[in-house]
Amino acid sequence: MSEATQRSAPRAQHADAFAACVWEGLSRPRKSLPCRFFYDAKGSALFEEITQQPEYYPTKTEVAILHAHAEQIVDGAPDEAVLVEFGSGSSIKTELLLQRARRLYAYAPIDISQSALRDATIRLSTRFPGLKIRPTLADFSHPIELPPDLAGRPKLGFFPGSTIGNFSPADATELLRAMRGTLSPDGRLIIGVDLKKDVRRLIQAYDDANGVTAQFNLNLLVRINRELGGTFDLQTFRHAAIYEPREGRIEMHLVSLIDQDVWVKGRKFRFRAGETIHTENAYKYTIEEFSNIARSAGWTPLRVWTDDERLFSVHELVAA
Ligand code: AVJ
Repeated sequence: MSEATQRSAPRAQHADAFAACVWEGLSRPRKSLPCRFFYDAKGSALFEEITQQPEYYPTKTEVAILHAHAEQIVDGAPDEAVLVEFGSGSSIKTELLLQRARRLYAYAPIDISQSALRDATIRLSTRFPGLKIRPTLADFSHPIELPPDLAGRPKLGFFPGSTIGNFSPADATELLRAMRGTLSPDGRLIIGVDLKKDVRRLIQAYDDANGVTAQFNLNLLVRINRELGGTFDLQTFRHAAIYEPREGRIEMHLVSLIDQDVWVKGRKFRFRAGETIHTENAYKYTIEEFSNIARSAGWTPLRVWTDDERLFSVHELVAA
């Protein structure tokens, strides 16, 4: 392999993997695309904007809970523990815990974005001088190998944002079990979980009046057009958010308004008017339902913090 080929290989591989996932998802009888592809640079910026919309209660409510109870939330971890964050992104919520944590051995953020890890490491090392930061570039949904100097130390896991809601209950159980492995010995996990509530309130959170969530959803098609030479006409697809009560989940879809053919990297996909691409699930739980999922993954639920309106919950789990 020539040097030039080698250098371009990771990007090409990435595009191939993206193309393969898109082809596969659009070939299904019920079309779907994995929600992780939302988060290109534009998509990440749009998600930030979603969190500032009045209807999108999860982020502000979770931040308020973390702010109000940070001292208690971290008090279960022993001195010299490692704070391990799964999908750390900008590590903004982490600061609330770092401010109250007693002596940590290190902070270990895990994320798939090299630039997010770099920016967070720079910012946190200025704000918390003396804190060791041990970033890992990885997808937290696969088994993770933490830096070797963290081995054998007690771990406090942090998984905020209700990202767990993107996983089906079965996949969430598996993920929680894998996290228990990553956090052993003395594993402890602080996890943010969105709660079941009035259906109108739920739907509005995923269909804000400013249309930011719609833009976030449609950006997936923009990305396919740009990166895979797709021919999606954005005028002929609309955003839809529905609540599926039997599954206990919000579903986001992109609805084709007309019968049409769309090309993606040399393959043609047929859409009927009204046919949808299912782009995201966001499962909602009661405190009891989530506690049972944690138990079936080998965790023991201890404390739960919530807000006055019971919109959102932060759970403390310990390895059983
Ligand atoms: C980042 C997965 C928690 O499901 O609420 C927000 C993503 N999608 N609006 C969520 C999202 C549409 C968000 N999570």
